[in-house]
Amino acid sequence: MKRAILAALGLASSFTLPASAEDIKVGLLLPFSGVYAALGNDIETGFNLALEHFGGETDATFEILKEDTEVKPPVALGKAKKLILQDKVDVMAGIVSSGVLGAVRDLVHGANVPLIVANAGNDEATGANCSPFITRMSFSNGQVNRPMGKWLHDQGIGKVFTLAPDYAAGRQMIDGFVSTFAKAGGKIVGQEFTPFQKTQDFGPYLAKAKASGADAVFVFYAGGEAISFVKQYDSFGLKSDLPLYGSGFLTSPLYVNAEGPAAEGVITALHYVPTIESPANETFAQAFEAKTGRVPSEFAVQGYDAARALIEASKTGANDRETLANALRQVSFEGPRGKLSIDPATNNIVQPIYVYETVMGENGLTQKVLAQLSAEADPANGCEMAPVSK
Ligand code: PHB
Repeated sequence: MKRAILAALGLASSFTLPASAEDIKVGLLLPFSGVYAALGNDIETGFNLALEHFGGETDATFEILKEDTEVKPPVALGKAKKLILQDKVDVMAGIVSSGVLGAVRDLVHGANVPLIVANAGNDEATGANCSPFITRMSFSNGQVNRPMGKWLHDQGIGKVFTLAPDYAAGRQMIDGFVSTFAKAGGKIVGQEFTPFQKTQDFGPYLAKAKASGADAVFVFYAGGEAISFVKQYDSFGLKSDLPLYGSGFLTSPLYVNAEGPAAEGVITALHYVPTIESPANETFAQAFEAKTGRVPSEFAVQGYDAARALIEASKTGANDRETLANALRQVSFEGPRGKLSIDPATNNIVQPIYVYETVMGENGLTQKVLAQLSAEADPANGCEMAPVSK
């Protein structure tokens, strides 16, 4: 637009414009198939909604190129290479799986391409493998689960059995919970890691949990696996004797209706629930519902905040890989989740965590907030943040 105005004034040729802020090529790397397909779709919906809401605040325009990661690290790496080398994107956003984030980390770091992580919680990407080119607008696996360890122990639960899929996110989520639960005096009486994307029958694992003598079970499952797990837990008859807790992805509003009554009474923790009472969340939730007919999930808000971060960065005049990387790490704003900022020591987001119970409301299952646990920056976990360099 600026060029057009200058051209109309006959001034365009006498000015050397800085590289145009008008067209930023964005590579959206998300799973549109596989166990996390619904998550990828929700992130994209949130991303596009923020472009609608805030796009007018910047002179930049955004060209979006989408690629399907399929929840397969080698596939995702190939798609990321295409976006970087062939399409020459200025910035990438997305990534749902911690395994995929681990696979593309060296590529984006080495190619100096900024990546806005819109889900994958891989602790190492903002820890020992941090990069000035990776900024996370979602959460880290440890961050979501650490507060729950102490909280659960404070509720009088002394012995816990844990379960999660056997890949980076499953292990890191459980580690986060166990670190604070054990520190508070709790005892882990058994742990199982189920083959990721391959486990259909959780029965043998539930039998072990039942026999373990635990007071409760704490798990991480997401997407299609969360739906199967919650339903099988209930039909196994465990819920009343062995209460189910977990990271909040277990009962995400995105698929809690598919879990149905089996999800009622499950208590989990997360960085966003659609029932947060604030003007920013009400505006977002109403707009999301008007568009989709559904309440927004944590995935939707992560996509929304990722696009908003990009817009905020572009408002500073950033328009290429280096300037965008620098600007993204300095973004802060008040969003549907509350006040968000990026910790300069790790490039991870700092945000509150909400403990919530899935309850039956007037219009079906909803999220009752039981506690808001304060925002804490992650420990640096070996991150030595280098400045952005050409
Ligand atoms: C992850 O792999 O980091 C991951 C996937 C799905 C979630 C949360 C974390 O819901």
